[in-house]
Amino acid sequence: MKISCIGAGYVGCVTGTAFAALGYRTTIIDINSQRIDALINGRSPIYEPGLDILIKKTIGNTLYADYSYNYVSNSDVIFIAVGTPSTNGGNVDLSYVEIAAKNIGENLNPFGFTVIVNKSTVPVGTADLVTTIIEETSGLKNGKQFAVVSNPEFLREGYALEDVFLPDRIVVGSNSEKASQIMKKLYSKIVTREGFNTFSDVITLNRKCHPSLPRYYETDVKSSEMIKYASNAFLAVKISYINEVARLSDALGANALDVARGMGMDSRIGEKFLEVSSGWSGSCFPKDTSEFLLTSQQENCELSIVASAIKSNKEMHDYCISKAVRSLGTLNNRTIGILGLTFKPNTDDARNTQASYIIEMLLKNGATVKVHDPQGAEMFKSLNGHLDIEYCSDPLDVFTEAEAVMLLTHWSEYLYIHWEDAFKRMHNPYFLDTRNYLKDIGLSDIGFYYEGIGVPSHKQSVTTSAASLIKI
Ligand SMILES: NC(=O)c1ccc[n+]([C@@H]2O[C@H](COP(=O)([O-])OP(=O)(O)OC[C@H]3O[C@@H](n4cnc5c(N)ncnc54)[C@H](O)[C@@H]3O)[C@@H](O)[C@H]2O)c1
Repeated sequence: MKISCIGAGYVGCVTGTAFAALGYRTTIIDINSQRIDALINGRSPIYEPGLDILIKKTIGNTLYADYSYNYVSNSDVIFIAVGTPSTNGGNVDLSYVEIAAKNIGENLNPFGFTVIVNKSTVPVGTADLVTTIIEETSGLKNGKQFAVVSNPEFLREGYALEDVFLPDRIVVGSNSEKASQIMKKLYSKIVTREGFNTFSDVITLNRKCHPSLPRYYETDVKSSEMIKYASNAFLAVKISYINEVARLSDALGANALDVARGMGMDSRIGEKFLEVSSGWSGSCFPKDTSEFLLTSQQENCELSIVASAIKSNKEMHDYCISKAVRSLGTLNNRTIGILGLTFKPNTDDARNTQASYIIEMLLKNGATVKVHDPQGAEMFKSLNGHLDIEYCSDPLDVFTEAEAVMLLTHWSEYLYIHWEDAFKRMHNPYFLDTRNYLKDIGLSDIGFYYEGIGVPSHKQSVTTSAASLIKI
């Protein structure tokens, strides 16, 4: 079986490389020549642990990369993994999917049967849209020479290879029996883990227990498209909920970490996604919750819980700022250091992160801001040119003459900062750890005024009303 993968991003690169590693001849196609050049030269165009190694092993053997859609005519399965960002209005922008579908249609093999797979996160009805575009551009017949299926992706950046090789579930939505059979065959190696030893060294097997075999779940196309949005929105709601619990814990003097642990022991709740933070962000949750909510409103069937989670999430960003305000009195003329610009560690993806909102608010309130991120600074800078901030290549430099430092992303290297040196560099040693990541390394003993979120500290707790202290 031969595969094409349209899009060499976080999903396309990982998916294409994974299928190549499983022995399928796979061509990754992208209009971004830098990404294709990187692949051709055996490098990953994105930062994702283990991916470089797997690309080096497969490129030129089973993995190929191309700027043109020529190889599409030679493929049995074509994944569409292009971006689906938000429009200014908050709905999904499907233009990249539409262009990809048009290009596929213009190159489709008229003599075979090709399965076109929507792997991008797309709203209900997109498979129908892609089908129409391909019929119009190719003159071929849906169900005869091709079929479009939905196969949403659930990988997490930073653990993408693990998630693609060892997923919890594979969801396939298809209205064509022939396409369903091809998809089942394609995924059989992942479902059975046949031949996994050859690349097990690059899978970051850090799950607490060895995961069981994935579930292969087949449904109709529309339900499959909905599963992705419903899942992401649910996870966003769960995070917003524990963050609200953390705010209440701050107000009442409870420990949100203990509360979360106690809640997570209930198998109906589960321990995952109960980690307190400055809020969810990144390239998926904000755009996916926005699209899902707007669609529900357009259908007069509002997902009010999702609406609340979005509102609550922004309040969580503000709450973190208000903690700093409460400690410093004002942000005006204060120097604030930021550790972490990506929405989570182990990725360079700095799209739509809480850091951009929080930094913008700090600047609006008169602060000077210095930032550090081990991998995401370059992308953050290219996306946030309007933010007048200092980028530091050494995390210690964000502490220099700072009145406060906020940790937003829990990169493991931050555990190894020379903390005595960091302390000496600060004008005022206020440290806000929005991930409660450094709570056990004794920062208070060094002299920092260390605060987490939802965990008791030795100063007066901050209530939600403190949000009124900042200019929004
Ligand atoms: N990033 C994640 O963690 C993640 C997880 C699950 C699902 N998704 C979904 O997967 C999709 C892709 O996300 P991503 O993060 O990989 O995006 P990305 O922006 O990293 O990559 C998309 C790639 O598609 C390319 N592209 C755009 N139009 C093209 C065209 N017409 N032909 C060929 N290439 C084209 C772009 O140049 C880019 O390299 C989105 O719908 C996203 O919501 C992402």
